[in-house]
Amino acid sequence: MSAHATAQPMTAHKSGPLSGTASVPGDKSISHRALVFGAMAVGETKITGLLEGQDVLDTAKAMRAFGATVLQHGPGVWSVNGVGVGGFQEPADVIDCGNSGTGVRLIMGTMATTSMTVTFTGDASLRKRPMGRVTDPLSLFGTQAYSRKGGRLPMTVVGAANPVPVRYALPVASAQVKSAILLAGLNAPGQTVVIEREPTRDHSERMLLGFGAQLSVEKTSEGNVITLTGQPELRPQTVAVPRDPSSAAFPVCAALIVEGSDIFVPGVSQNLTRNGLYLTLVEMGADIEFQNPRTEGGEPVADLRVRFSDNMKGIELPPERAPSMIDEYPILSVVAACSNGKTVMRGVKELRVKESDRIDAMARGLEACGVRIEEDEDTLIVHGMGAGGVPGGATCATHIDHRIAMSFLVLGMAAKAPVSVDDASPIVTSFPIFEGLMTGLGATLRAGGQ
Ligand code: S3P
Repeated sequence: MSAHATAQPMTAHKSGPLSGTASVPGDKSISHRALVFGAMAVGETKITGLLEGQDVLDTAKAMRAFGATVLQHGPGVWSVNGVGVGGFQEPADVIDCGNSGTGVRLIMGTMATTSMTVTFTGDASLRKRPMGRVTDPLSLFGTQAYSRKGGRLPMTVVGAANPVPVRYALPVASAQVKSAILLAGLNAPGQTVVIEREPTRDHSERMLLGFGAQLSVEKTSEGNVITLTGQPELRPQTVAVPRDPSSAAFPVCAALIVEGSDIFVPGVSQNLTRNGLYLTLVEMGADIEFQNPRTEGGEPVADLRVRFSDNMKGIELPPERAPSMIDEYPILSVVAACSNGKTVMRGVKELRVKESDRIDAMARGLEACGVRIEEDEDTLIVHGMGAGGVPGGATCATHIDHRIAMSFLVLGMAAKAPVSVDDASPIVTSFPIFEGLMTGLGATLRAGGQ
């Protein structure tokens, strides 16, 4: 289960200045990987700051089903007793990854080169998402996958008993696909090579190195060439999960558009594969100070002081920036609506295969709130109405998508009339403390519709 069985409408009202400190939870991508790599190491991996969102809890449950011992010791403090590369046991039941594309794609990678058969499923959102992008490259190792039409879950994956190493150039910029291949390559003999034309989040590469795998990344004219030597013994690690820059985006953007706001957001990742939104906001004229740059949990981070910015300007985003801010386009489109002039986002068709079709979800909801939108398959253009200029007064459909729900609730904090979402329950997948954190800063959020 990724969200509550019954829809939970929520309404955001125009809010007073936001102030105080926004300490957001642990990074979702790194949390999944800490559990998965921990399960493939021999011995006890200790994790602090783990995101206890439903997506990550579903991955923890899956790692138990494969034979790892995964324990919670306190808030965010977990341990994983791993079974070693190739040491997974065949789960006795279906693996249900809930709402999580990262969970299911990474886990398919982990079992793809072991001799076992596993059936995967997920919630109504995940069952619509394409899995062929993972099972196609996994088939090169010798893995077989049987699914409904269109490569959708539920899907049964038969791992390769005698895997061969693979060389694969990613046809889409996707860290999930890259990671699935690297995870599968761990249990294949020889060298597995993944080539990515555009760099995507590099947490798997960093973590593989930390766990003692032999991995190199060469920058070439083809892009990043990542070479992994198979069948290492992974050494357990202590992983301090840094805060999630994709979650920090919500209080940061709320403070930029809610009049009079001035907030502090500690420990926001400055990893170049994740910080595209922050570069973009600065280019738009956002008042953000980056303080105290340092390294935390192996990631470069800074503390952010963010103030209401009443004169932000729309910009044309470089398409090659998309992978470093792929999850942030929904909240950026809210900031764009509260800026002056138009914001042009091209090269964003990947947004159509996220937890929902995010171009469509944002376009329809923003239009319902009185914002002019242009869109095509690969483009979203938002015509800004200036700070405080968005009429609001609508109910937006969230389509089982946490980031769509949080984006429209942030819009409601700055719009003239309240903005409701039909279902806020998916927010638990990535940011379970969203409501308490935002109301603590001074936002007015109420359960129920309008
Ligand atoms: C993620 C990769 C991205 C991102 C997702 C998390 C990851 O997906 O949208 O939320 O942890 O690897 P894609 O790899 O499909 O772009």
